[in-house]
Formats: sequence, C-alpha cells, structure tokens
Amino acid sequence: MKKDFISILDISREELSNLIAHARKLKEERRMGVHTPVLAHKTLGMIFEKSSTRTRISFEAGMFELGGHALFLNPKDMQLGRGEAIRDTARVMSRFVSAIMIRANRHDEVLELAAHADIPVINGLSDREHPCQILADIMTIEEWLFRTEGVRVAWIGDGNNVCTSLILSTILTGMEVVVASPPEFAPKDDVVRDAIRMGAKVRIVNDPREAATGADVIMTDTWISMGQEEEIDRRRQIFMPYQVNAELMACAKPGAIVMHCLPAHRNWEITDDVIDSKVSAVWDQAENRLHVQKALLVRLLA
Ligand code: CP
Ligand code: NVA
Repeated sequence: MKKDFISILDISREELSNLIAHARKLKEERRMGVHTPVLAHKTLGMIFEKSSTRTRISFEAGMFELGGHALFLNPKDMQLGRGEAIRDTARVMSRFVSAIMIRANRHDEVLELAAHADIPVINGLSDREHPCQILADIMTIEEWLFRTEGVRVAWIGDGNNVCTSLILSTILTGMEVVVASPPEFAPKDDVVRDAIRMGAKVRIVNDPREAATGADVIMTDTWISMGQEEEIDRRRQIFMPYQVNAELMACAKPGAIVMHCLPAHRNWEITDDVIDSKVSAVWDQAENRLHVQKALLVRLLA
C-alpha cells in the first residue's frame, strides 16, 4: 500500500528515529561528496499553491542528489488553475510521476489529492500542518541538545500550522511544548484536545515569559502566514509583546537555543541579535530540511 506523509503522525516513533538516523547518514555522506542514486528514474511532482524558498529548493536539490528528478508545478500554469478537479489531477499525475509533494492553501486539498492518487503524497505545508518542517526541527534539536526526551520547547507567537505539527510531534519525541500566544491566536481548542488525548505534552499560556522560563528551546515563526497579508498591521500590533529578543531569551535555561522555520520578519518576531547569535540553530534547521526530506523520499520511494 502506498504511504503518504501528510501529518507528522503519519510516522511512528520508531520510523521517526530511523528517518533521522538515515538523514544524519545522508548529511555526513554529502559532506564527503558521496551521493548514491537510489532514486534513479524516480520523479517528484511538486505542486506549489503558495510561495516557497526552502521547501522547493530542498526537495528539488534532494531529488537530484538521490539520482531522481523533481518538477516544479505552478497550479496557475496547470489545468488545476482552470478548474480541473483535484481528483482527476491526482489520477493523471499517478500515471506520470513517482510521488507528489503539494503545498496547499487548504489541508482538505492535500487529503483529497492523497485519497485519489496511487502514489505517495507529501504535505509541503497546508493551513493545518507543516510536517516536513518539524522533521527537520527534531533533527536539529537532537544535533544541538543530543536528545529530545524531556526537552522543553517554548513556542512563542502564532498557534499556526507549524505549531500544530510541533504539538503533535511531542507524541513521538517525548518533548514538552508550552505555547504562548495572544488568546485570539492560540492553537485551536479541538487541535489541542485531540493532541492531548493522543498523548501530546502541551500547555497553552498567554505570557511569553511564562513559556520561556526553563525552556531548552525557544521557537517562533512569522506572525503573518501566507494568505494573511491583509491582516499585517493588526497582527503586528497584537504580536509585538511576543517578540523573541534578548530579554525573552534570558528567561530560558542556560544553554537554550533559538529556532525559526523561516522566512523571518527580522526585528518583528525575532530580533537581529538573537537570530544571528551563537545560540541560533536557525541555519542548521533550514539545512536539515534537505537531509531529512531525502531520507523521507527514500523511505517512500526506494
Ligand atoms: N520553512 C519553509 O517551509 O520555508 P519556505 O516557505 O521557504 O519553503
Ligand atoms: N506559518 C508559515 C510557515 C511558512 C514556512 C506559513 O504558513 O506561511
């Protein structure tokens, strides 16, 4: 049966640890200039309904490095943009390519594509989750802190798609997450309730200092996700007390690291001195997208 990767919970604890171990091996091999074409003659179709730098480049470079090929597909240039059904697109693409990665406006679109495709479908970000990002984040936390079990992550800011994947990931990693958001932008109640029911370790607060106190990792994301551009002024005002700056970092545990999935609005959600500091794991976090997605592609396709 085909495997999809739509939610971070589409893999088990054991699969996660195998995936990260494989990603580490691929990272080391790449450093030594070793590339094994295990995905020769495999093709990844990448549908992007929204912009991307990291996801597009890491998947495209990753497929190339594995001996395969990736196709960038803008829905505006596809018949999808003229109203062709997702289910028909799924069926047809299944005859041409080996897997589909989709960055979609709505999570339902990803689910519909997967339901009608005969090939693996990867969620490259939806309004509900960003599981590929969280794979890279887990790999990065292990590299910097040498463990995930018991690691306390403070999520500061918007309770968005990346935050949801992070909350769900605690079921697999043994991390704990304390989310500090303005009440209006806290993670949805049903998301938190279901996550806790499945074993997630998460607490929701409003005060960023409360979340940051005793944290091993301070994590944030943009205050304005793609599609929310019209709310920019209002959001900026509401989120300003949630800025990750030196003062907030001082509340965290000594040795705490800072993470941001990027793209960042510098000096909004994170200040220059923090993102460019010695405790910033941000650039490794971005790089690890490549290694961990290569491991994922091998798992789904080889
Ligand atoms: N973090 C992330 O997914 O970045 P892009 O939007 O550039 O792909
Ligand atoms: N929350 C952001 C993540 C970007 C990678 C968004 O959805 O735009």
